[in-house]
Amino acid sequence: MSDLTGLSALVTGGASGIGLATAELLAARGARVACLDLAPDGLPAPLLGVAADVTDDASVRAAVARAAGEFGGLDVLVNNAGIGAQGTVEDNGDAEWHRVLDVNVLGIVRASRAALPHLRGSAHAAIVNTCSIAAWAGLPRRALYSASKGAVQALTLAMAADHVREGVRVNCVNPGTADTPWVGRLLDAAADPEAERAALRARQPLGRLVSAAEVAAAIAYLASPAAASTTGTVLAVDGGMHGLRLRQEG
Ligand SMILES: NC(=O)c1ccc[n+]([C@@H]2O[C@H](COP(=O)([O-])OP(=O)(O)OC[C@H]3O[C@@H](n4cnc5c(N)ncnc54)[C@H](O)[C@@H]3O)[C@@H](O)[C@H]2O)c1
Repeated sequence: MSDLTGLSALVTGGASGIGLATAELLAARGARVACLDLAPDGLPAPLLGVAADVTDDASVRAAVARAAGEFGGLDVLVNNAGIGAQGTVEDNGDAEWHRVLDVNVLGIVRASRAALPHLRGSAHAAIVNTCSIAAWAGLPRRALYSASKGAVQALTLAMAADHVREGVRVNCVNPGTADTPWVGRLLDAAADPEAERAALRARQPLGRLVSAAEVAAAIAYLASPAAASTTGTVLAVDGGMHGLRLRQEG
């Protein structure tokens, strides 16, 4: 018996990185957990894989219905699926803008509207969105990605207001650079991966990358009944990157 025993959760982008770490943590704390992902094969037990693309409304509705059907309801939705983009406002074409906003913003819209009828039936309903430091700090060459995450942060607050009287809490986490397969792919593509890794570490006052487990812990807190008085908040998990202004050493 753990603090999430009896609750059920759906995690989008739950087959990798932050989503998988979150799904495993929620399950370890007693929740029944479904991972919605493009091809959620080989998930560790007892996670339930549900294949869907968050850009496809019908597949999202089917995946949410399947998870809620298997579990007899749904208490927690973690909107975590996301993709990146690099470049200034001059660099990304319209198709890429539409693609990234479709996944990162409309993906949350589709999963949330499919899940809300189930969440309204829960005594501990919570939505947690994975946002980013990019929502509130200007990062170079991240115009499109930042615009998408700024929208996620604003959407989180608007949804929190809309659903507070229905008993559905809505919050988001803002990770700094986290050590996930995504960041691994970015580093692999860099001209000098070790120099790039060192620059990313140095950008965060704690002097290291955030771990997926640390982001998962924040998401699990916001999803849990322990956070029953917390809605419409943005929780930074960024090694101090947003809130601190350090003096240069030396
Ligand atoms: N890693 C970081 O440094 C970092 C920092 C801040 C925010 N984030 C956010 O965290 C979230 C997870 O990132 P991660 O680093 O764990 O990445 P990841 O690439 O390891 O995992 C993302 C998962 O989302 C899934 N996904 C992508 N498009 C999808 C779609 N259309 N439908 C369904 N699933 C889809 C992928 O298949 C993958 O399993 C993203 O929203 C990202 O923007 C990551």
